[in-house]
Amino acid sequence: MTNLWKVSTDTFVNEKESIMRMGNVYQIANGYMGYRGTFDEFGPDELVGITIAGIFDRVGDSWREPVNAPNGGYTRLTLDGSEISALTSTVKKHAQNLNLENAVFNRETIYEANGKTVTVNSTRFLSADKPNLGVIKFSLTTDKAAKVKISTGIDCNIWDLNGKHLVNLKLEQNEGALLVHAVTNELGKKVAVAEVVDASFGKATHEVKDNRNLHVIEVDTEAGKTYTFYKYFAVFTENDHVASVNEAAVKAVIEAKNAGYEKCLSNHNAEWAKKWAYCDVKIDGDDEAQQALRYSIFQLLIVAPVNGSANSIPARALSGQVYKGAIFWDTEMFMFPFFLYTYPEKAVELMRYRIKTLDGARRKAKTESIGFEGAFYAWESQDDGDDACTYFNIGDPNTGRDLRTHFRDKQVHISGDVAIAMWEYFKLTGDDSLLLEGGAEVILECARFYFSYAYFQKNKNRYEILDVIGPDEYHERVNNNAFTNMVTKATFEIANATVAYLKEKHPAAFTTLVSKINIEKELPLFVEAEKLLYVPQPNKEGVIEQFDAYFKLRETTIKELKAQMIHPNEYLGAGQGLAVPTKIIKQADVVMMLNMFKDRYPKEIKKANWEYYEPRTEHGSSLSACAYAMVATEFGNIDFAYDYFMRTAKIDIEAKYKVYVGTIFMGGSHPAANGGAWMTAVFGFGGVQSTAKNVVINPRLYKKWNSLQFNMIYKGDRFKVTIGQDKVEVIADAANKASHTFVISGQSLDTAPGKTLSHAAGAKSLA
Ligand code: BGC
Repeated sequence: MTNLWKVSTDTFVNEKESIMRMGNVYQIANGYMGYRGTFDEFGPDELVGITIAGIFDRVGDSWREPVNAPNGGYTRLTLDGSEISALTSTVKKHAQNLNLENAVFNRETIYEANGKTVTVNSTRFLSADKPNLGVIKFSLTTDKAAKVKISTGIDCNIWDLNGKHLVNLKLEQNEGALLVHAVTNELGKKVAVAEVVDASFGKATHEVKDNRNLHVIEVDTEAGKTYTFYKYFAVFTENDHVASVNEAAVKAVIEAKNAGYEKCLSNHNAEWAKKWAYCDVKIDGDDEAQQALRYSIFQLLIVAPVNGSANSIPARALSGQVYKGAIFWDTEMFMFPFFLYTYPEKAVELMRYRIKTLDGARRKAKTESIGFEGAFYAWESQDDGDDACTYFNIGDPNTGRDLRTHFRDKQVHISGDVAIAMWEYFKLTGDDSLLLEGGAEVILECARFYFSYAYFQKNKNRYEILDVIGPDEYHERVNNNAFTNMVTKATFEIANATVAYLKEKHPAAFTTLVSKINIEKELPLFVEAEKLLYVPQPNKEGVIEQFDAYFKLRETTIKELKAQMIHPNEYLGAGQGLAVPTKIIKQADVVMMLNMFKDRYPKEIKKANWEYYEPRTEHGSSLSACAYAMVATEFGNIDFAYDYFMRTAKIDIEAKYKVYVGTIFMGGSHPAANGGAWMTAVFGFGGVQSTAKNVVINPRLYKKWNSLQFNMIYKGDRFKVTIGQDKVEVIADAANKASHTFVISGQSLDTAPGKTLSHAAGAKSLA
């Protein structure tokens, strides 16, 4: 039977592309940093990367991107003088696995050289309880007596896409630990990596060679005897707010060494046990779906920001510097719901990140295009909230020229996405502290931005949102994109609700905020805009036009369109893209809107739009399939929903995604799709929808699934929900503080703390 908690392979393919993909699949992370699933002996050419969350750097005119730390996990061997490496030696046998239970990566490789074999077994994890720490257990066994030289330490040859980010690099020894410290090129931020080794065999010396700070351990091995050593490395940056990053790093590794491997591992495991106790989803009857979904959840858990960091999750998570390590709408619209429902303390960090970057959003509004008011969040946001997205963000492989794209200046829905998530947090947790610590300010500034962006069409007596890009990036600078207009309307609604709430519950805080941002005179305008904002309505066939005059675009098929491509990586949008004059869209747009605002549209409208847009959607973004899957569950196309759910859930475990858009390398993991997989399971097949008033469950399980079980948090209270083909069971945790209403298949039921509810999955009550 497949182990549904492990991902494993027993092959090693010595090709760059495979090494890159495996590096993503087997990566580990702990929110503070990610470590790609590469081998101990690999270097920058194999894309070894220890990507640190929340610290960015720019070199010259190149793209600003996250900083990769020097690799404290480096180890290389020689056997009787011959270098041992999976790249150059004979690999007799290899196996590797990633344990999803605790994010521990293990590989065992048998190498052959000079008529002898050496078996290398290494296990590593990034500590879940001490986020700066990485721990490695490394063992080697030779089949015959041999002279083995182990070079282990910190490799300062760093894989950078647009580096070199670390300057003034110093390779030193400090209190028995190796220490590398440097500053970032742009802002001069301090970064330090320390490493210690605990080896009870051989003779160790120190060596600095080829930009590596190393312990060299020489040992004459006995045949068949296993030699094990432990490595502890720590990464600290100025963002950690410690007095000295160097001292903090050294102290961390010495403490870890003193505690020992087993202790570090058991502390780490205890944290992971808690994570899974909250966040696992069990699918009974479908192992493939189970494993893919669990792997997706795992991907989200490893990159959840460290508590107190106010960091967010980049579009390619911590799998490298790809996509500039930037935070997109992906986080709020695709990942945030998972955290909100299962791990709200992480949802708080994601929102704190938007509060932290509010000034950047204000700067962007003022300086973008003709200048606007309020908060226009960065399309690609980094540490300060300024936009990392460039005006020429995609390269054309046919001409080698950069293409003007308007993602940065016209994809205005980003501000509303942030406001919506902020409000969702308040609605579903009942916790208003985020609103008070800056969330309300974010919401009002987003509304202010939209008011300054909107046009009042006097003859039509309505506000319109012109010259934008919706989620479908193939059609730029369009007017009245249904998605964007709806998000704008929702932002006004939320702003008005925020005002009403604060006035009633926190009048003093309200007065302070209003005067701080000088917004009093604008508040009535938001009320008017909520009423008069135009949202495109369904035509007589029930189809909502994606934007003004979309229906007049050329009809074609994706197949026909693709047949015209000159280069396989050519971009279909921007000025001259093949999709631009056609109805082919990149990703869910109207359908995304129907999913986000599912309460506002009846089933028939969802079906009509889904059927119209699906054949015209290229699904050129990993964000697309889950939106179609979720809407399909709403009107009963469960088989389709299942296919698209699997497509989404398997994206990172299978790693068959495209890695180039135009000339830009995009190879990394897909946390938005991971979040989409969770949403499709729980919101789609589970039919769960929480509102400020209650939790609604209208299940529509896939036929193969005997049951779907998950935990959810609502208003700070915990529930275990099991949805079977015939019945729904909800167990309210005994420690819950209040009773909440669950509406299961139309029946309203109360969940007192400790109570178990059971109800027919259809309309009939079992209770
Ligand atoms: C998609 C965007 C998404 C971005 C990052 C693009 O290809 O069109 O919607 O935010 O990738 O994942």
